[in-house]
Amino acid sequence: MHVLTVLDHPDPASFSAAAAQRFMQGAQAAGHSVELADLHAEGFDPRWSKADIAGQGSGADLADIAVEQARIARADAICLVFPLFWWGMPAMTKGWVDRVWNWGWAYDQLDDPERSLQKTRSGVLLIPAGARSDKMETQGYLAALETAWTAGTFGFFGFSPRRLEVLNGSTGSLARREALLERSYQTGFTLPPPHPSK
Ligand SMILES: Cc1cc2nc3c(=O)[nH]c(=O)nc-3n(C[C@H](O)[C@H](O)[C@H](O)COP(=O)(O)O)c2cc1C
Repeated sequence: MHVLTVLDHPDPASFSAAAAQRFMQGAQAAGHSVELADLHAEGFDPRWSKADIAGQGSGADLADIAVEQARIARADAICLVFPLFWWGMPAMTKGWVDRVWNWGWAYDQLDDPERSLQKTRSGVLLIPAGARSDKMETQGYLAALETAWTAGTFGFFGFSPRRLEVLNGSTGSLARREALLERSYQTGFTLPPPHPSK
């Protein structure tokens, strides 16, 4: 498979950047080709604008969006790597999702998350998070993210299967972080092929 990894972090020395690298190493070890979209390094503009509204669904997307869509078109699997910010996506990823996966290109049915205009792609969210996993479970945050992202958003984009890997304790000890990086590698190494859920 050809695997696109989309990284959202301004610091190349960050844990998120390391997780993306280890994920890609795992994918390569499994025989896949890899490609990195480093949104901060590339200066992607996450601001949804009037030009986006005019372009969406017209087949005449803005130049920066066309570049992102071409990368997606090449991919059989997509991994988004971003740190959990206030139980959601940082602004860069949010803007990339809002602008690139637009109405008329990614989806047009608004009522069925299993229907996308895009071909089926294997999808992974690799999410470093400061919080402990038990806290995220007992307080309902994990279920909320599963609902919003796994049951919702990423079905509209044709991600199937879709997998949410929260890397809890990303700000913890060296040993903890190394274990999480090994999990990132294994996530790449065991990436499932795309298969429609229906
Ligand atoms: C603005 C901001 C908001 C954050 N919100 C959350 C949060 O809601 N839940 C959580 O577990 N961690 C939260 N964190 C912690 C980050 O997820 C953590 O710092 C990050 O995963 C560390 O990875 P990095 O070194 O790649 O930045 C937040 C951090 C920042 C800077």
